[in-house]
Amino acid sequence: MNVSSKPVRKAVFPVAGLGTRFLPATKVMPKEMLPINDRPLIQHVYEEARDAGIEEFIFVTGRYKNMLEEHFDYQPELEETLSSRGKEDMLAAVRDSEMPEGKLFTTRQPKPLGLGHAVWCAHKLVGNEPFAILLPDDIVNHEKGCLAQMIETYNEFGGNVVAVKNVPREETNKYGILDIGEKKGAAVSIKGLVEKPNPEDAPSTLSIIGRYILQPEIFEHLSVFERGAGNEIQLTDAMAKLLGVQPFHGLRFEGQHFDCGSRLGFIAANLAYGLKDPAVSAGVRSIIKDLL
Ligand code: UTP
Repeated sequence: MNVSSKPVRKAVFPVAGLGTRFLPATKVMPKEMLPINDRPLIQHVYEEARDAGIEEFIFVTGRYKNMLEEHFDYQPELEETLSSRGKEDMLAAVRDSEMPEGKLFTTRQPKPLGLGHAVWCAHKLVGNEPFAILLPDDIVNHEKGCLAQMIETYNEFGGNVVAVKNVPREETNKYGILDIGEKKGAAVSIKGLVEKPNPEDAPSTLSIIGRYILQPEIFEHLSVFERGAGNEIQLTDAMAKLLGVQPFHGLRFEGQHFDCGSRLGFIAANLAYGLKDPAVSAGVRSIIKDLL
């Protein structure tokens, strides 16, 4: 354990984006409420953070996003009905989706100016301590959650930790790619970030997914409100300013990653989570067979 590291107690969930890739499904319904198997994306990432020991959950919401907070509310009428019908399994599932009192905090991002801006909107609630960011778009299927794995890396090295995965070399021009230094087991130290390099110029094939543990100094860089790619305030641009100043590691996490912000990733995740759920697994298998 790196003794100078403060523990990671808080997690930020940026959920104020427009979700245009899923229109018209997301015209009224937040993208983060789309279900993977039996629970919405936001609940998958909430559970990952809770199981990693996070104590405070900070949602950065926006217009039409109130449903996200309501999903974690206590629902007395529903619970009474399920209880009177003897539906103990469903009752347990509903209770598991409730957030204990005093744990959920929300702030607003009035306009979707980019991920970096959404994270900045949480600066007062985070304060002067390290914190995690989880994007509900990204889900990782593994017994030990991705954030729990990252916290172990953080406890070893301190500073900043991001989750990274290999992408096919011919596709490096679609991603932000890492320039890496020393390899330390599953972790790598990060020297630089290169946006969408051509395969022949890419310094590695490692790309960041939506899991971060960052130091509060990130807010100083975000508060400049500098516009980057797509004219948005980018988290990556602010992170790049911490490279070389603070420890910065990428963790090659274990588990299957799904980019549920894309339609294909979303479909793949539903199949994978259906296949691992004993309640529907056999049915999903036979449906896939029939369809093919
Ligand atoms: P995306 O980059 O996937 O953007 O955001 P998006 O608007 O949600 O979706 P598309 O690309 O239009 O389909 C990744 C995460 O960051 C949040 C989103 O809600 C999502 O959880 N986000 C993004 C914000 O909270 N605010 C922003 O300004 C942008």
